[in-house]
Amino acid sequence: MTEFQRADGVAIVTGAAGGMGSHCARLLGEAGWTELILCDLDEARMAPVAEALRATGAKIDLLGGQITDPAFPGQLLDKLGARSIGAVIHTAGVSPHMTTAERILQINLDATQAIVDAIRPRMAQGGAAVLYASMASYFSGGAEADAAFEAPLPAGGSAELMHFVANEGMAYTLSKRAVRAIAKREAKGFGERGARIMSLSPGLIDTSMNAGEANDHTAAMLSGAALPRLGRPAELAAASVFLVSPQAGFITGCDLRVDGGALSSLGI
Ligand SMILES: NC(=O)c1ccc[n+]([C@@H]2O[C@H](COP(=O)([O-])OP(=O)(O)OC[C@H]3O[C@@H](n4cnc5c(N)ncnc54)[C@H](O)[C@@H]3O)[C@@H](O)[C@H]2O)c1
Repeated sequence: MTEFQRADGVAIVTGAAGGMGSHCARLLGEAGWTELILCDLDEARMAPVAEALRATGAKIDLLGGQITDPAFPGQLLDKLGARSIGAVIHTAGVSPHMTTAERILQINLDATQAIVDAIRPRMAQGGAAVLYASMASYFSGGAEADAAFEAPLPAGGSAELMHFVANEGMAYTLSKRAVRAIAKREAKGFGERGARIMSLSPGLIDTSMNAGEANDHTAAMLSGAALPRLGRPAELAAASVFLVSPQAGFITGCDLRVDGGALSSLGI
């Protein structure tokens, strides 16, 4: 018998049709998770991922819809039923070129907090959650804005913080800074259940999301990085699956930067 026992329960992936989320779902299957709930905007987009997993004998539930829908957390728990949660990899998110600043905050921040609130009481002993932040979260939005977004979300959600946000880029940076803060803040509560939570900050990764963000700034970051190439989605998935594995059982409340050394090359 191995020293490391995987938590019982279901593995949940949000953004499961996406560049990184689809790889996370696939690798969770390879790692032996046999019950998964996959979430993305609609079920049809997740069909190829689900079929591949079902072919291995895994039981797959699909949940299509906006993670910002107030009904989403309840729908997720309905899919879960009486089972507990062994792993969560929350990748669903949007980047600055995709929508308005307000919507970026709703998707990346408010929905993340709502998901964390929903899963916290249902985590299995030994379970773990990974929240996708971003390398961009390490850039400052200004001291006051940084502090506001690192604090617990106000009762009215990110709408109460809009005055700190000048544009879509800042909305993205601050939303992801807040995601890192959520993981840090929630570690104690998850720990009380014998569970863990952390964030993961991708650098520039070879997905369609990143293609939309290509500009002089990202090109300079890429060429200056310790590893001057785009990250592969499978590399991010491998790091995520490690973080939810029992081998990572003493890691919680922190952020893992998977950025090819882009931030460290900037002295961050
Ligand atoms: N690609 C990069 O270079 C990069 C860099 C840093 C951080 N990230 C973060 O990593 C995560 C995954 O990025 P990706 O490159 O795989 O992106 P992607 O666009 O390929 O996948 C994101 C998935 O999230 C889903 N999604 C978006 N909004 C949703 C909503 N409101 N409700 C339900 N589902 C929704 C999309 O349908 C999509 O399938 C994101 O949170 C992103 O911010 C990406």
